[in-house]
Amino acid sequence: MSEFSELMRRTAERVAAYRQYAIDAPVAPPDDGAGPRLSLEGPLPVEGLAADAVIEELARGVEPALVTTVGPRYFGFVVGGALDAPTCADLLTTGWDQVALNATTSPAAAAFEEVVGVWLKEVLALPAEASFGLVTGAQGGNTVGLAAARNRVLERAGWDVENRGLIGAPRIRVVAGEERHATIDRSLRLLGIGADALDPVRPDSNGAIDPESLALALEADSRSPTIVCVQAGNVNTGACDDLRTACELARRHGAWVHVDGAFDLWAAASASNRDLVSGIELADSWVVDGHKWLNVPYDAGYVFCADPEAHAASMSYSAAYLVGQGEGPIRAPSDYVLESSRRARGFCTWAALRELGRRGIAELIDRCCALARRFSEQLGSIEGVEIGNEVVLNQVLVSFGSDQRTDRIIDAVQREGTCWMGGTSWRGRRFMRISVSNRLTTEADVDRSVEAIRQLLEEID
Ligand SMILES: Cc1ncc(COP(=O)(O)O)c(C=O)c1O
Repeated sequence: MSEFSELMRRTAERVAAYRQYAIDAPVAPPDDGAGPRLSLEGPLPVEGLAADAVIEELARGVEPALVTTVGPRYFGFVVGGALDAPTCADLLTTGWDQVALNATTSPAAAAFEEVVGVWLKEVLALPAEASFGLVTGAQGGNTVGLAAARNRVLERAGWDVENRGLIGAPRIRVVAGEERHATIDRSLRLLGIGADALDPVRPDSNGAIDPESLALALEADSRSPTIVCVQAGNVNTGACDDLRTACELARRHGAWVHVDGAFDLWAAASASNRDLVSGIELADSWVVDGHKWLNVPYDAGYVFCADPEAHAASMSYSAAYLVGQGEGPIRAPSDYVLESSRRARGFCTWAALRELGRRGIAELIDRCCALARRFSEQLGSIEGVEIGNEVVLNQVLVSFGSDQRTDRIIDAVQREGTCWMGGTSWRGRRFMRISVSNRLTTEADVDRSVEAIRQLLEEID
């Protein structure tokens, strides 16, 4: 066996051992203040090091400081673990090192992205004619979707933004929920639309956009080129905006509807949750992450657009040396995203979709929702504990009384290590925020986590 094969074998074994360890390991890194066991200071050594010694040094330095987000009791942010097939596909992707620019640089990468796009549209019930791009995540997807929106709403106002830019252009108005995700604002800044273009709409009691307020906001100005940003779902509560009503209202006003569906768009894949995103097919652009609820390793996000022309017009470019761009039977994936030289992201997502199948995806969504309800029932039955949101999907907000007490409990839970939940502020109050998004999580993991919290409550009081 060559030295490289031997190193690869040991590396793969290391990955497998880590993932096995993560199932029962303390969730947070030990808080001994040491951080990564690597010298983070000092200059780059003059002399290089043999590859196996480099990997040994890297792994020994990093492993003690890893956060076991791949394990079944990590409930922070909205983090999916990574399924087995896409994890291995990711290793292959690295080994193959394809450039997923177009079908000339990698016919395989371009072809697999095509298949992934078709499968994702099927499972999410999006229009078959929609164009799509495999992006780094929802932030990238929001930027692409809003770029396509910018192109089209200005074109309808007689302005070619791709050539003329925004100076002197009609002012775009962006109508979005007060509780939109902050990445929308960043995308608007990057696109030169600016956060001041936002016209915030009041939320309902669970954090979804209030349809009446949306109607009023749209009626207040029917002349400006308008983009409506809706959400599936609220990053704190999981609440989904009423997509059907939002799309119908927007259509009456000639507005573009962009759906930021980073995690909740997956509700469309489950018969028991599909109603939450009813009307999804009426929107103009959509974003959903793979690295959240589909349990694809990072970075994996997807953007879709009902207006392929606007999508490509806002993203594609050409250069004299480029061969294969916009030619041939397989489209150039880079014409639909922000990067040109890019990782062959399609292999990983293909592997996740193939490992789960339609049934497996639906079961994953349903199981996580049932486990979120289990958290809410068990924690909600403890005296002095209050569930802050209506649990519609996989997100649970928990208050332990005052903000100070809630923060103390969150801190204690994070240190204790059975499970990891983050904190958040919602409606002026502090909450523990639980997101169940990992296919490994079981009822026993929820029960064990609740028991750990119960113990801590007894110790702290
Ligand atoms: C609704 C929503 N939009 C966008 C994002 C950003 O996603 P990413 O970090 O994958 O770019 C998130 C992340 O949690 C989200 O919940």
